Amino acid sequence: MQKKFLVVMAGVALAATAWIEVLAADRPWLDKNLPVAERARLLEEAMTDAERFQLLHGIMPLNLPRPGREPIKLPEDAVAGAGYIPGIPRLGIPSLRETDASLGVTNPFGARPGDEATALPAGLALGSTYNPDLAYEAGALIGREARVRGFNVLLGGGINLARDPRNGRNFEYLSEDPWLAGTLAAAAVRGAQDQHVISTLKHYSLNDQETNRMTLDAVIDDAEHRESDLLAFQIAIEGAQPGSIMCAYNKVNGEPACGNRHLLTEVLKGDWDYDGWVMSDWGAVDHWNFALVGLDQQSGAQLDPEVWFAGPLQRAVAEGQVPLERISDMVQRILRGMIRVGLLDAGDARPAVDYEAHAATALQVAREGIVLLKNESNLLPLGSKLRRIALIGGHADIGVLSGGGSSQVVPRGGAATTLPIGGDGGFAMFRRALYHPSSPQAAIRALAPNAEVIFEPGDHPANAAALARTADVAIVFATRHELEGYDIPDLNLPNGQDQLIEAVAAANPMTIVVLETGNPVAMPWLPKVKAVLAAWYPGQKGGEAIAGILFGQTNPSGRLTMTFPMDAAQGLRPELPGFGQTGDAPVTINYTEGSEVGYRWFLREEIKPLFPFGHGLSYTTFDYSGLSGAGGDTATISVTVRNTGDRAGAEVVQFYLTGTAGIPRNRLLAYRKVMLQPGERRKIELSADPRLLAEFEQACRCWRIAGGDYALAISRSAGDPILATQVRIDPRQLPP
Ligand code: BGC
Repeated sequence: MQKKFLVVMAGVALAATAWIEVLAADRPWLDKNLPVAERARLLEEAMTDAERFQLLHGIMPLNLPRPGREPIKLPEDAVAGAGYIPGIPRLGIPSLRETDASLGVTNPFGARPGDEATALPAGLALGSTYNPDLAYEAGALIGREARVRGFNVLLGGGINLARDPRNGRNFEYLSEDPWLAGTLAAAAVRGAQDQHVISTLKHYSLNDQETNRMTLDAVIDDAEHRESDLLAFQIAIEGAQPGSIMCAYNKVNGEPACGNRHLLTEVLKGDWDYDGWVMSDWGAVDHWNFALVGLDQQSGAQLDPEVWFAGPLQRAVAEGQVPLERISDMVQRILRGMIRVGLLDAGDARPAVDYEAHAATALQVAREGIVLLKNESNLLPLGSKLRRIALIGGHADIGVLSGGGSSQVVPRGGAATTLPIGGDGGFAMFRRALYHPSSPQAAIRALAPNAEVIFEPGDHPANAAALARTADVAIVFATRHELEGYDIPDLNLPNGQDQLIEAVAAANPMTIVVLETGNPVAMPWLPKVKAVLAAWYPGQKGGEAIAGILFGQTNPSGRLTMTFPMDAAQGLRPELPGFGQTGDAPVTINYTEGSEVGYRWFLREEIKPLFPFGHGLSYTTFDYSGLSGAGGDTATISVTVRNTGDRAGAEVVQFYLTGTAGIPRNRLLAYRKVMLQPGERRKIELSADPRLLAEFEQACRCWRIAGGDYALAISRSAGDPILATQVRIDPRQLPP
């Protein structure tokens, strides 16, 4: 009986092998032993022209209200979301189903009723963790949740440098520093793509403010662009090979980012040898000729005046204005992205998702991303003796705020509430402040079972002060809703919250402020309060994370990923370009600071901000010893860090360049987060990517290291060295 079974099975196996061979002969691109580029070439060769053009443009599979236009008919296999490009079943090419995914899988306008996903904290919170392993986990989480819904392309993450603390989308981005942003983005993309979904880096490049983003011309010196925003993309691309890159709405040096030969063809595909595809941002294409300079796919084409990459591009090819090889190149780029993550091999299997494990990741990002900015007299962590705790403002009874726009995630459990803000304009429909259902009040009650924890909405400062006067400690939750499509005019808290904090602090000297914002905050009340936490938008477990830090369940380890200026006037552009103009007015922004973004500009100008980049307090203390450096091809240091307090905690070791040839020059060269038990010490070695020691030089189109003496430091934060050394670096030249 058993023998007969084996014979039958052997027959089945033989038949299967024969079938695979037939398949392989018929579809040679399915052979996983071939290089990705060869598989893409073979597959593209098998396509008809009509099939080729089909891959070059997609729709937004949503029925947005669009006066004067027919509703679009959603294809059967589309998943309502941000993008859809029909597949080619004849050749086994799946449809591309795209979702926004900066902070989780989105559900625009509730298009998939009841579909809730894990809502991660803001990108700036992830940035503040300085933890690539956690970024990988966050990417993997989004990848799994996308696949289970049938999506196979993530439109995230955003990696624009946080050049201006008023940018309404900074909460989606990671940092003002290119090394930090690039390395964390690489980890997140790897995490996602390991789940067999394509990840997209956006918005390439310099979409660093939202005001007039469709008409904005971002002007920058080419070399300094390479050393800043472009370097972040370059590092992330090298580290993770994302399938696609989304070009931005704005112009760069006079040319639309999506129709920019220099950025797309010369830098991205030329100098960096990027082999994936460039998709447009939604509504960013003005002409079919963008294909000639490097754009490969027109996204959300119903938002453009024409489906340029259908008929018009086909006609241009027929008239000989676009070579057919360029169309093949566009298609092969898309196919390479698909093949690399296994979209042709993986089939449509949907992974099981463990939402509890994902919630734990969201909580961990919040815990590690919240930054303790001030802690006078070690008021925090709060102890168990408190009898009466006043919680004031920020809807802290029900939840925590999130940022708005295309990255908005509808959290697991549904929103605690969504407050309409109102207003007119293209993005007005996004002006709704969604609170994630993670109540700080409930979480604080759980950690302070012997205390009365009383909430007061904070609309009237006098009421808040009256409650604060009766409490052992007063915690003000200050919020500022920020969103895509809008910048904030200044760094103040809106709706009278500064006065609220003043009134509470005057009534109770034990006042703590918890900030839920998407950017730095001006703090005129800072000397009057004892402690401040920057919680960013802390995601669907934000209330628990904040409470855990306030009560010492978590030892804070977040470090600022952006400089906190005193106020907007202290920055390099006191007035935001385009502020107060109509959305269609042409606006030019001159990035005269070039690559000296954020802390580098503050240090160069010798201006002291409110809190520097890299700053963040802990409930324990660390000391450093035994710094030694080595030079040569690059700068390397070794140092021992020790936890000198009585609590376990994580330290972020920050390694900076502080000068070359005696001239101050500041850059974060490397970082490492280490968890240390009380008394534990660890020897850390860090080495700089040599491009961080170099200048980009146009003449040779290369990175040039001048060589000589380079001053290095281990610093508490940018500009606050603890130990310093100097090494000799050899002069050399590196490819672009
Ligand atoms: C945003 C992109 C987003 C796209 C699709 C655009 O408005 O700038 O970041 O991916 O919409 O939703």
